[in-house]
Amino acid sequence: MKRTLGVCYYPEHWPEDMWPHDAAEMVDAGISWVRIGEFAWSRLEPTPGTYQFDWLDRAIDVLSRAGLKIILGTPTCTPPRWMLTQFPDMLAVNAQGQPRKFGSRRHYCFSHAGYRAASAEIAAVLGDRYGHDPRINGWQIDNEYGCHDTAISYSDAARDAFRVWLAGQYGDIDALNTAWGNVFWSMEYACFDDIDLPNLTVTEPNPSHDMAFRRFTSDQVVAYHTAQVAALRARTGMPLIHNYMGRVLDFDHFEVGASIDIASWDSYPIGFLSDRLEGSAAHKTRYLQQGDPDMQAFHHDLYRAVGRDNRWWVMEQQPGPVNWAPHNPAPLPGMVRLWSWEAFAHGAEVVSYFRWRQAPFAQEQMHAGLKRPDNADAVGLLEAAQVGREIAEMPDIALQKAAVALVFDYPSAWAWDVLPQGAGFSYFRLMLDAYRALRRAGFSIDIVPSTATDLSDYALVLAPGLATTPQTLCAAMANTVALVGPRSNAVTHDLTIPTPMGPDLRGLDVVVARVESLPPDVRRPVRGGGAVQHWMEDLQGTAPTVFETETGQPVVKGADDLHYLGAWPDATLWDRIIAGLAQRAGLTPQSLPQGVRLRDTATHRFAFNYGPEPVCFDGKSLAPAGVAWWAI
Ligand code: GAL
Repeated sequence: MKRTLGVCYYPEHWPEDMWPHDAAEMVDAGISWVRIGEFAWSRLEPTPGTYQFDWLDRAIDVLSRAGLKIILGTPTCTPPRWMLTQFPDMLAVNAQGQPRKFGSRRHYCFSHAGYRAASAEIAAVLGDRYGHDPRINGWQIDNEYGCHDTAISYSDAARDAFRVWLAGQYGDIDALNTAWGNVFWSMEYACFDDIDLPNLTVTEPNPSHDMAFRRFTSDQVVAYHTAQVAALRARTGMPLIHNYMGRVLDFDHFEVGASIDIASWDSYPIGFLSDRLEGSAAHKTRYLQQGDPDMQAFHHDLYRAVGRDNRWWVMEQQPGPVNWAPHNPAPLPGMVRLWSWEAFAHGAEVVSYFRWRQAPFAQEQMHAGLKRPDNADAVGLLEAAQVGREIAEMPDIALQKAAVALVFDYPSAWAWDVLPQGAGFSYFRLMLDAYRALRRAGFSIDIVPSTATDLSDYALVLAPGLATTPQTLCAAMANTVALVGPRSNAVTHDLTIPTPMGPDLRGLDVVVARVESLPPDVRRPVRGGGAVQHWMEDLQGTAPTVFETETGQPVVKGADDLHYLGAWPDATLWDRIIAGLAQRAGLTPQSLPQGVRLRDTATHRFAFNYGPEPVCFDGKSLAPAGVAWWAI
C-alpha cells in the first residue's frame, strides 16, 4: 500500500485569506490529507439549533481544490458553553467529587444521556450535510477518549447508570453481594439502588466494586461512541476513525475499535518520555530529544491490532516541542523523519502532523507546528517534506505477520490498578518491559487481544500479567512456545481469588503459594545473571524450574513449551528469558547496538537509531536519529 502524509488544520483559527496559501503549501510539502473540525462546535452551532456551515463549506472547498483529502471530525470533545446551560449536570466529576469545569475540553461525562444524545445529534447533522460529499474521505469521531483522565467519572449520571448496569450484570442483589464478598465489613446491599460509586470511601473500597465500576466505565465509553457510529453509518459510507492517546487505558480500545474502520493514535514521543513513562534519570537523559525507543512502536503495534483489518494511522505526530509535559525539549534533528518512517514500517497508512501552524493564542500557544505563528517554516516542516519526497519514491510497504505475539488486555490493566499490591506495579509498565526485551533482541512483534483464538502462525507468544486468562487463549497458545505470568489467573472476573489458585494452567503443575511486592531499589539476583525486581511469587508444584534466584527460589517454571514467570524481571533477566524462549521457538535473537531498533516488513528491514551517538549495524552506519532500510 502507498503510504501518505497528513496534517491537522484549524481553518477557524486563521483569516480566510490565508487558507488557499496554506493548502498550496501543504500540497507542496507532500501532504495529501487534512483533518479539520474536531474542536469547532462553537463555530458550527453558535447557539442551540442554529448552524453555520458557510465557513466550513468554504474551507472544504479551498482544501479540496488544492488536492487535499479531508477527514472531518465530530466536535464532541469540546461541548460549547451553551451546552452546559442546557445540561448543568453533564460535567465529568473527579474522584474527589468535584465537577470538572468548563474552560478547556473533555468536560463531559460519558454517562450523561442528554449529552450523549446531543453528540449523536451533531454527528447526524454533519453526516446529513457531508456524508455523501466526495470531498470528505473519512470521519474522526470525538478526540482522544479518556485523555486528561476523563473516562472515569463519579457523576450522578454515572451512579444512576452504574446501578442499571449492575442489575443487568448480576440479576439479583444477593448474587452481587456474594460475588463481591460484601459480608466483609458489613457491606451488604439490599437493592441495586443502595449502591454508590466507589469514591470517597474512608479507606479503599471493595476491589470487586471498583473493578465492576472500571468495566462499567469502559462500557459507557463504548456506548457513547456507538451512538455516534450509528449516526454516521446511516449517513456515510466513508471510513470512521478514532484517535486514541498514548497510555490511556481506562476503556477497552479493542471494543471501541470493533465498530469503526481505522484505528489511529496521537504520538508525542518526547512528551511521553517526560510525562508518562517510568525510567531512570540516565534513560530519560539519553533519550531526552528522541523519546523512548519502544513507546511509539508499542502503540503502533497495538493500534494495528485494534484497527479493523489492521488499518491504522498516526493521526497526530509531534512536529517539535510540545507544551504539556513537565519539560519540553526540541526533537533531535532527524527525529520527526524517524518517527514518521517508524510508523510506516509498522504499517501506518497515514502519518499526520499536529498541527499545521502554531497558534499564537490559547492553551497551546507554546506547542510547535509545522509552521511558526508568524507563518515562517518550522524545522518540522522540512523533515515532513523530506518524508513526503521519500515515500513518493518508495514503491510499497507490505506488512507481514511477525513471528512473535504479545497479548494485551485492558481489563488486566484495570485489575492491577484496582489491586496493585505494590506501589509502581502497573500492567502497562510490565507489558512495555516485555516488549522492550523482545525489541532489544531485534524481533518484530504483533500485539493481539486476549480474545485471540488462533495463534498458530506465531512461533512465540508472550502473555504476561493476564489477570484472568481466557480458556480460549490457553487453547490457542497450546501449539506455540509461550510465556505467561506473573499474576496470571490470579483473580476472577469479579476480582476475588479463585480456587484452584492461579495460574491454574492445564499441563503445567505450578501454584502461586504467596506473592511479595518489593520496593524499587530491591533486587533478588538470579543464577547466571539478572535479577528480580518489584514482584516475586513463591512458585510451588512439580513443573521443572528454568530460572531461579541465587537462593534457589524458582523464577520461571516450564514444561514443554509453556512457561510460567513468577516475578518481574530486570532487563538482563528479560534478555536471558527471551533468548531461551527464542531458541526453543527456533528464532534467532540479534545483538543490536544500544538504542537501535528493527522492524521487518514483507520486503524490507528497517533500522532506527534512537541513540544520541552514531552506530554501525549490519554494515550500515546510522547517525543519531538515523533511519535505514534495505531489501530482505
Ligand atoms: C493531543 C490532542 C491535540 C493537541 C495535542 C497537543 O492530545 O489531541 O488536540 O492538544 O495533544 O500535543
